[in-house]
Amino acid sequence: MKLTVNVSTSYDIVIEKGISDKIGKLITEVCNCCKVLIITDSNVPKEYSQKIYDNLQKIGYMPFIYTIPSGESSKSITNFALIHNYLAENLFSRKDLIVAVGGGVVGDLSAFVASTYMRGIKFVNVPTTMLSCIDSSVGGKTGVNLECGKNLVGTFYQPSLVVVDPLFLNSLPKDIYNDGLGEAIKYGIMDSSVWEVLKNDANNNIEEFIYKCLSIKKYVVEQDEKEGGLRQVLNLGHTFGHAIETLSNYTILHGIAVVKGIVIIAKYALKNGEISQEKYNEIVSVISKYDIDYTCPYSLEDLKLIMQKDKKANGGFVNLICIKDIGKVYIKNIKIDEIQL
Ligand SMILES: NC(=O)c1ccc[n+]([C@@H]2O[C@H](COP(=O)([O-])OP(=O)(O)OC[C@H]3O[C@@H](n4cnc5c(N)ncnc54)[C@H](O)[C@@H]3O)[C@@H](O)[C@H]2O)c1
Repeated sequence: MKLTVNVSTSYDIVIEKGISDKIGKLITEVCNCCKVLIITDSNVPKEYSQKIYDNLQKIGYMPFIYTIPSGESSKSITNFALIHNYLAENLFSRKDLIVAVGGGVVGDLSAFVASTYMRGIKFVNVPTTMLSCIDSSVGGKTGVNLECGKNLVGTFYQPSLVVVDPLFLNSLPKDIYNDGLGEAIKYGIMDSSVWEVLKNDANNNIEEFIYKCLSIKKYVVEQDEKEGGLRQVLNLGHTFGHAIETLSNYTILHGIAVVKGIVIIAKYALKNGEISQEKYNEIVSVISKYDIDYTCPYSLEDLKLIMQKDKKANGGFVNLICIKDIGKVYIKNIKIDEIQL
């Protein structure tokens, strides 16, 4: 399955079980370079990056592997600088390539390095978590965290190619897999065809499911590449989700917090008569099917206090992404104090 993202620099997304075996050929179509830096992390099974290394070497590239420690703390200015130095020490030129093999952490950091080394070298993303397969590998947001906040430094930089091999998801621990499914539930609320796959069995239709989720992301980023307006709808569930993550001291994973946020928004829609009790029940029953705990352990008042402090809150108002129906979401600028469930 293939999608083409038509933004400032267009690129293809190829989704196929086992496609990583043929990655060398796909790369020759976008980059005839010599050196390739494969960036991965310490928890991603080594055979994934090794397979890509062997594949590239066989067709004449000169690959290198750089492994960062796994975890969010690796998305740092320190690693950013270390990788830049590694590239320079190994005489990478502007014509060479970076390939990320990992989840959103590896992808965001590698893309940021690619966007800045020698003012920008080509970048290919090979996502290996559910979240990166359906979301973070597409859209061109790159970046690292600072001590005072996440994703505070970065660029918009489009990859030259995204290669999704769903077989890589087989080694994911269940909690990390489900964390990514949280973002997929968001796409399901935004689009009825994704919702239909979720209602049926997303895990057993994984290629189609990833294709459908990425089709929505593609559509949104094509309309709004640099997050000027429409792209905000991708924040469905995130306003409450971020508050839940903060209150849990990040013990509740992001995607799970987003699902809890979506259910709060669905309750809000129910209270305002925008969705029926039947639709609300359908939303929670589909989420339950995937073994995701959608209940929120915090009071609305506590959540609102955190939301007031969020960098996206403006004078006590937030842009809340609200639900009218499956496939129908809209942005509402609302005073945080006035949200009732
Ligand atoms: N750029 C964007 O548009 C965008 C969008 C959403 C999130 N993000 C970013 O993505 C990051 C989170 O990404 P994530 O959820 O993929 O987390 P992650 O990259 O930290 O991966 C989660 C864990 O899974 C391990 N892992 C990865 N692939 C594996 C595999 N196939 N088998 C076994 N273990 C594997 C990793 O080593 C890590 O321990 C955050 O930094 C977030 O800010 C970016």
